[in-house]
Amino acid sequence: MLDVKNIEFFEKVDTPFYFYDMDLLRTTVGKVSALSSRYGIDVHYAVKANEEKRILEYISSNGIGADCVSGNEVMHALDCGFPADKVVFAGVGKSDGEIAEAIRADISAFNCESLQEIYIINAMAARLGRRARIAVRINPGVDAHTHRYITTGTYENKFGISDHEFTALADLLRRCRWLDFQGLHFHVGSQITDVRNVFSLVCGRVNSIVSWFEDHGVQVGSINLGGGLGVDYEDPDGQPVPDFETWFRTVDEGIRRRPGQTLHLEPGRSIVAQCGTLVSRVLFVKVGETKNFLILDAGMTDLIRPALYGAYHKIENLSARLRPNLPQSQVYDVVGPVCESSDVWGAGRFLPFSVRGDLMAIRSAGAYGQSMSSRYNMRNLAPAVYSDDMHGARLRTEYFQE
Ligand code: LLP
Repeated sequence: MLDVKNIEFFEKVDTPFYFYDMDLLRTTVGKVSALSSRYGIDVHYAVKANEEKRILEYISSNGIGADCVSGNEVMHALDCGFPADKVVFAGVGKSDGEIAEAIRADISAFNCESLQEIYIINAMAARLGRRARIAVRINPGVDAHTHRYITTGTYENKFGISDHEFTALADLLRRCRWLDFQGLHFHVGSQITDVRNVFSLVCGRVNSIVSWFEDHGVQVGSINLGGGLGVDYEDPDGQPVPDFETWFRTVDEGIRRRPGQTLHLEPGRSIVAQCGTLVSRVLFVKVGETKNFLILDAGMTDLIRPALYGAYHKIENLSARLRPNLPQSQVYDVVGPVCESSDVWGAGRFLPFSVRGDLMAIRSAGAYGQSMSSRYNMRNLAPAVYSDDMHGARLRTEYFQE
């Protein structure tokens, strides 16, 4: 929750910027680490959700591993203190350069997504004279009941290997002499809110898939269920630390672990979403024919989720909190400055009466916000400001006061 001191400071800072509440990050990571030890479940943080160095350094210092999806992410994770034996590398399309680099770095495992990829990693490991560890991502054919752009475990998705290739996969694994097969990897989707039902279903499927491989002579040493725990975008302050407990418990109860078999989770969003806020200013208030528009200085280039997925982010007028009398509510379409009609933060939002210069908070922006930003329209990238040291913030120099 942003307090008045934060807001008074924000008034002096150039917008837009990402504000990270490091106390909340610490509480969240603390919870995850505690559950990881209690249930004996290894955690790899999905770096794609937020790759800010300071955030990664904090996560790695808590013994959590990294789930990466590009060679650059692998190198960055190593740079931010994740030991190579806690770094996994997933993704449907790894380039030869990325594979070679990761083999040389001796990472914990490649999460492979096709038979051809396994074949190529084996061949490259042989050429480099270094063994490589792999896990294989399976498409379990389970619908995560989430947005169609972030559902990944149904047969229509490009991710993982489906059951029609299991026999060929078991054969290939036996033939790949340069690979050490670790186990199976799954990830059915992101922003899953029906955690109990979806993950119970996933666990049931995973148990039978693991049995199939063991029955066919393939030892499954590790089971990785991916990420996906959802967060509350409607009410970010209601439960700022997501319900990791239910997720860990459901998985612990649902997976039939054999002795020595390890279990892994890869949360991204649930660790970082709620600690991040995109702070912006109202540039102009425009009274339209039928609507009033608040035009902010932050847009889809800073946080693309609303434009790309129609995602909801709570919007708050921070400056209005400092006004002596609670101003009346108005209905606004809150939009960004980018030349695209989809650059809309929220249509028909009830907000306090707002004026030019007001500070606006776009909440739950810590995950897939900064990491997905772009420079479209040659816009600047919004910098990060951390609650621990706000002095690093770029102060406002040029502004026109009416
Ligand atoms: N593991 C794998 C293999 C993944 O593909 C993902 C996310 C994760 C873990 C982490 O999932 P999480 O715990 O964050 O749900 N840009 C979208 C989300 C894309 C998720 C991609 N994969 C969004 O803004 O909603």
